Amino acid sequence: MAKRIDVKDLNLFYGKFHAVDRVTLSVPPRNVTAFIGPSGCGKSTVLRSLNRMHEVIPGARAEGEVLLDGEDIYASAVDPVSVRRTIGMVFQRPNPFPTMSIRDNVVAGLKLAGMRDKKKLDEVAERALRGANLWAEVKDRLNKPGGGLSGGQQQRLCIARAIAVQPDVLLMDEPCSALDPISTLAIEDLITELKKDYTIVIVTHNMQQAARVSDQTAFFNLLGVGQPGRLIEIDDTEKIFSNPSEKATEDYISGRFG
Ligand SMILES: Nc1ncnc2c1ncn2[C@@H]1O[C@H](COP(=O)(O)OP(=O)(O)OP(=O)(O)O)[C@@H](O)[C@H]1O
Ligand SMILES: [Mg+2]
Repeated sequence: MAKRIDVKDLNLFYGKFHAVDRVTLSVPPRNVTAFIGPSGCGKSTVLRSLNRMHEVIPGARAEGEVLLDGEDIYASAVDPVSVRRTIGMVFQRPNPFPTMSIRDNVVAGLKLAGMRDKKKLDEVAERALRGANLWAEVKDRLNKPGGGLSGGQQQRLCIARAIAVQPDVLLMDEPCSALDPISTLAIEDLITELKKDYTIVIVTHNMQQAARVSDQTAFFNLLGVGQPGRLIEIDDTEKIFSNPSEKATEDYISGRFG
């Protein structure tokens, strides 16, 4: 639970296109790190490379190291499927299995891994739904389809599904961008709660959100069309938003960008 991430000289490609250039950064355990920066600078690409989802895209390739508590997830002996189990991901649009029941959505990963004990699955479902702050709202309709929940509830259901398998890290790519302000605040509160048990990396376009939920912030930028995205700086969130080291960061966070 809650492992440390060290990224070293990571280069990411889509075929011949060099999308992200030499990223080096660290995320301590029980920390929330926000990725910010303009569209196309490579935030999602870097995020997906942290659990080897990047290479699922045909032609996509990673060079460099991503260490999880010192172990390289790209080492040849490592099974990418097990990496994706220990490093969970939540996407921009809530993507529950719409016709599957709420309960089965939560335990889908465990069932896939072969767990059949109904009592145990029920326990896990309750624990994960409580962890995702959704239990009270769904406990009386666990057998109803996941697609029948509101957008914000569906996103918490996806978070429950991600934490049901007890990952070490949670990656979230703009998890609130499809949600209303109230649901957004519910997810932000949840992130702060989950930080006690997990290492979290979140991509967000919302500066206030980055400032509210994260401990450190990484600013990525594009130096020009066709150029790879780069990590400009990573520092304590308070420092990034009050006194960043780089002018480009200051221009971006103060809205004087592009
Ligand atoms: N599947 C793909 N195939 C080819 N190129 C891709 C693919 N996904 C992303 N790219 C390219 O890689 C670069 C980085 O994209 P990425 O999606 O990581 O940016 P981003 O910072 O997440 O942007 P946004 O804020 O719009 O989500 C862009 O030039 C993009 O066009
Ligand atoms: Mg993106």
